[in-house]
Amino acid sequence: MPDEKVVMEALNRVMDPELHRSLVDLGMVRDLKIEPQGKITFTLALTIPSCPLREHIAEDARRALLVLPGVNEAEVVFGAMTPEERSAVLRTAAAAPLPKINQFNKVKHLVAVMSGKGGVGKSSVTALLAVTLARQGYKVGILDADITGPSIPKLFGLPPGGLRGGEQGMLPVITRLGIKVVSANLLVKAEDTAVIWRGPVISGAIQRFWNDVLWGKLDYLFLDLPPGTSDAALTVVQRLPIMGAVLVTTPQDLSALVVRKAMAMLAQLNISILGVVENMSFFQCTDCGSSHEIFGPSHLAEIQEAAGHELPAVRLPILPAFTALADAGKIEEAAFEAFDAFVPLVMCTS
Ligand SMILES: Nc1ncnc2c1ncn2[C@@H]1O[C@H](COP(=O)(O)OP(=O)(O)OP(=O)(O)O)[C@@H](O)[C@H]1O
Ligand SMILES: [Mg+2]
Repeated sequence: MPDEKVVMEALNRVMDPELHRSLVDLGMVRDLKIEPQGKITFTLALTIPSCPLREHIAEDARRALLVLPGVNEAEVVFGAMTPEERSAVLRTAAAAPLPKINQFNKVKHLVAVMSGKGGVGKSSVTALLAVTLARQGYKVGILDADITGPSIPKLFGLPPGGLRGGEQGMLPVITRLGIKVVSANLLVKAEDTAVIWRGPVISGAIQRFWNDVLWGKLDYLFLDLPPGTSDAALTVVQRLPIMGAVLVTTPQDLSALVVRKAMAMLAQLNISILGVVENMSFFQCTDCGSSHEIFGPSHLAEIQEAAGHELPAVRLPILPAFTALADAGKIEEAAFEAFDAFVPLVMCTS
């Protein structure tokens, strides 16, 4: 059986999720009993007896105890602190706030990838931007800000549930090329679990992915924003230190119109447009060699005109081989020739 010191050390690793301090530090562990048959019992003195997180804390504590050799049962009895104890604990927690996780993060360029409407290839372009820069040796990350429709993990073949909490915060999942990825899909256990959250919760989640993830040092962090100019997208763009946005569109009339809407929104927010990607712009027939504009003629010239100045722009073809790689989670093997010239212009790396 472990002795009291070992048990207290194990409980010292269990954090109060609100006060961000260990149960032991907060004086919440009382009346510890270690029975020779392998049972451990203690009283968890709560700051508020009806604390909604009490089961969660108790479960964390039980788990920490049950991994100790010789322990086969762990019982947590709920107790309460006196009002004096409670004020003392809250005072201590407030007096010495933990260093904010983002003090460890140094993100040189935060770049948003936006589209007016869905399904135009925004996530694919986000992934391709990251892949192109990672291949050139830059340190890159992707924050999948499409909380309710996350698709970045699938493009990289990352299984659900891969995010880990470290001592200092949430740790991103790392792809084969070394790209750091954080997505709501990596939090849930099954890929098809629907994430049903509303506007304020969504922008809160994105903010937490920015604040509470240990991104470390990055040259570029890409934000794959939800489609459209919704509230959630707006709030995020306003709150984070975004360097600029890459707009993604397709040649459809409606798509060009919504891009102009997105441009107007960015102008209002004083965020510069770094470049425009016209995706699925044409199809290069491998048999006859000629190019077909499946979704209609390009609107790039029009978009450039609306911007009032020349913007770096690129037309990406419809490439069935690309869809196949994306579907197989192998986007890191994909390449668009035209993209290699475009990325340095947008990211000012040339
Ligand atoms: N240039 C391309 N050639 C072939 N297939 C493509 C191309 N661009 C994107 N696709 C495919 O089109 C589909 C939609 O792309 P993607 O998920 O990147 O769009 P999105 O704008 O992020 O969508 P959503 O609005 O749902 O987030 C995917 O199946 C993707 O593989
Ligand atoms: Mg997407």
